[in-house]
Amino acid sequence: MREGASPLIQRSDYQAPAYWIRTADLTFDLDGAKTIVASKLQIERNTDLPVQALRLHGEDLNLLRVLIDGQSVSFRHEDGLLVLDAPEANSFVLEIRNTIAPEKNTQLSGLYASGSGLFTQCEAEGFRRITYFLDRPDVMAVYSVTLRADKKKFPVLLSNGNLVEQGDLDAGRHYAKWSDPFPKPSYLFAVVAADLVAREQWVRTRSGKDHLLQIFVKRGDLEKTEHAMNSLIASIVWDEARFKLPLDLERFMIVAVDDFNMGAMENKGLNLFNTKYVLATPATATDADFDGIESVVAHEYFHNWTGNRITCRDWFQLSLKEGLTVFRDQEFSRDMTGSASARAVCRIGDVRRLREVQFAEDAGPMAHPVRPEAYQAIDNFYTATVYEKGAEVVRMMHTLVGREGFAAGMALYFQRHDGQAVTCDDFAQAMADANPSSHLATSLDVFKRWYAQAGTPRLTARGEFNAEAGSYTLTLRQHSTPGAAPQLLPVSVALFGRDGSAQPLQLAHESGAAGTERVLVMTRAEHRFTFTGLTGEVVPSLLRDFSAPVVLDDGLSDADLLVLLAHDTDAFNRWEASQRLATSRLLAAAASSQPTAVDAAYVQALRSVLRHPDLDPAFKDLALTLPSARFLMEAMEGVDPQALHAAREHLLDQLAEQLHEDWAWAWTAHQVREGYSPVPAQSGRRALANLALAMLVRDARRSGDTVWPGRAYQRCKDATNMTDRLGALTALVYAHAELAEPALQRFHAQFQHDPLVLDKWFMLQAGAPERDGKVFARVRQLLQHPDFTLNNPNRARALLFTWDTNPAAFHRSDAAGYVLWAEKVLEMDSVNPQLASRFARGLDRWRNLAETYRNAAREAISRVAAAPKLSSDAREIIDRALQ
Ligand code: PHE
Ligand code: ZN
Repeated sequence: MREGASPLIQRSDYQAPAYWIRTADLTFDLDGAKTIVASKLQIERNTDLPVQALRLHGEDLNLLRVLIDGQSVSFRHEDGLLVLDAPEANSFVLEIRNTIAPEKNTQLSGLYASGSGLFTQCEAEGFRRITYFLDRPDVMAVYSVTLRADKKKFPVLLSNGNLVEQGDLDAGRHYAKWSDPFPKPSYLFAVVAADLVAREQWVRTRSGKDHLLQIFVKRGDLEKTEHAMNSLIASIVWDEARFKLPLDLERFMIVAVDDFNMGAMENKGLNLFNTKYVLATPATATDADFDGIESVVAHEYFHNWTGNRITCRDWFQLSLKEGLTVFRDQEFSRDMTGSASARAVCRIGDVRRLREVQFAEDAGPMAHPVRPEAYQAIDNFYTATVYEKGAEVVRMMHTLVGREGFAAGMALYFQRHDGQAVTCDDFAQAMADANPSSHLATSLDVFKRWYAQAGTPRLTARGEFNAEAGSYTLTLRQHSTPGAAPQLLPVSVALFGRDGSAQPLQLAHESGAAGTERVLVMTRAEHRFTFTGLTGEVVPSLLRDFSAPVVLDDGLSDADLLVLLAHDTDAFNRWEASQRLATSRLLAAAASSQPTAVDAAYVQALRSVLRHPDLDPAFKDLALTLPSARFLMEAMEGVDPQALHAAREHLLDQLAEQLHEDWAWAWTAHQVREGYSPVPAQSGRRALANLALAMLVRDARRSGDTVWPGRAYQRCKDATNMTDRLGALTALVYAHAELAEPALQRFHAQFQHDPLVLDKWFMLQAGAPERDGKVFARVRQLLQHPDFTLNNPNRARALLFTWDTNPAAFHRSDAAGYVLWAEKVLEMDSVNPQLASRFARGLDRWRNLAETYRNAAREAISRVAAAPKLSSDAREIIDRALQ
């Protein structure tokens, strides 16, 4: 394990590699206890640089021998590197033999055991845990791989590329040879040796070529792979249609693995997936799980072009592939919905995640630019900023150059850089060069501040109506974080009359026909826009479809927001109005020491949304869901999580009571009677019905009613799909209903052999709204449950990560939450540092807490900091938190 304070790696220190590796010929004798790796590398000196020693990365390896051109050479170890004096020849063959111990590899990076199989994970720096190498993305080699293993234990042997040979060996062993024609960086290398079966499908792409698609899973899981296969085929079709990017591989494989640190990995031609993003049947997966599979399958598939064909020069450029690929998978998911309102529902979900997770990150100790400047452990920078904010940066480019312009920019990017390892600047330059008259090109330097500056910009908007002139002047001001320069903000805008009618947007100096929506582009701190030809007061709808990732202060009154909630033609801003109305009420209630009674106008507005004849049920579900405590905590200073939680619960209780009849109607009116399908037309109805049921069971606590809890219990028993079953169980557990216990027991008994469903059982209990300390007590109890383990990341996340993001169950006034947190960070760190450092981020925002919490949190973090043994992953997070 890498331990202690690793040196800080700086973006500005980048140097081209001193050597290139042209081909890698690897032979594995696979065995769980001891695997032998023989590596033969064709190496060339980079003659652009002065002659220097060959320094190879290696970690947790047992070195057996080193040969150069067949001769043994001397070597030394320096700072964790294997160093060989520069060979005489500019081109030579390096042969290395070493062993590794996959069964002891609990970090799940490099070659590791999961169940009875062996799997690799190499991004970002796992390849060096397999053999010595130049483990950096700008070194690209052509790989050929020979795998040898016991045939019974490991009947399936896979690596990247094409299978060129296979056969039997003596002593019950067999072998397979794979060769990958595409040069690739080591982080895209993969090997699988396991007892698996595959769903197979041949597809023909537009060029008329046939390709084999395979999804490998454990025996018994084949029937759960249909949705993943359909998603893969849809992704192939979409990328070819929208971006003219065809499948370039003869064979595309997906392998599902139980123990995996992340969601999935885009290894060339051999994607490895967390089972969570492959396996689904209506009986075991929810609508959200089906959507998750569709988007992750697409994401990894899209990486084949954006990530693999063009990769990153160094890890500071991570967003080059991740931001772009998230943007692409978001666009895909939106295109797949088939309706404008379902597209908006996707967008709302994406923005919700961005604001809850990324905005918090950007305001805390881990704040970093989309293109970071420095890191200790690169694993810590697979963040919401690099991924989600990175995707927003790409989305703003798309807004600025338009759909066609973006496609042209992508085409130019591939024309210039296919097969190369490049930078974020290269991407932005291609986009700008393909669209020379766009704001992107004319203000490229200002735009590129999005890559360089951390923090969420604030945008203030104030409007003034001049009745005499019939004009409306909108003043936009941006406030970047201290020290940061103004950024380029595309601000999509519309104006509505008080009656809800969309107004023409005619700027003072313009002539010609005016539309009712347009994008204003800010490049300076302040801009003023005057719209003319208006006949009355207007309500501005700004940042439509969330056109820039900023915090907006538009000073709108409740009356204005009610106009937008009733009439805005942009579904995102219509939803946003509902959230703003809720937020102001919740913040006021949290700040007051008295329980606050909710106002009738707000309740009536929610009722109108709920009963609206034309709105989509999925939209209604989102508009009627209160902003999360995580989101609200970012809108406050000196947060008292208990007070905030109490305020939120109290508002929910009142909405449950005052809208009781409406919820009852909603439940009945949105039952789905046709056969299950995870399509938006059904999932929206299920979501709204489940929300209604949760509110009705909540209200039963006040009224003493037993009918709704009884119905929920019945639904837990009879439901024919997981969305409804889990929805009903959630209603009972979240309301702390008496029937919650028997329902939980039943659920456990029924699904105890399905790990992914069991994760839901843990998650549900750890995520329940706190009440008299019961949820925290339950978390402690579940840590002792025979089904709990820290060795499986999904299970650890289901219980511990759900808990440390559950505000009132985690931030306790007696500090017991923080004490447990410190204990678990340390315990996890000795097993799996990557997982531990993610969990440790649960206290990122401790400085924003009210004093008593803050002091207790500081103490807990300091306790972790003082531990004698800490991985460099966890060390970086903890040190930053205390800085
Ligand atoms: N590159 C993967 C993705 O975004 C994520 C990942 C990173 C997986 C590191 C494993 C390790 O699809
Ligand atoms: Zn990715």
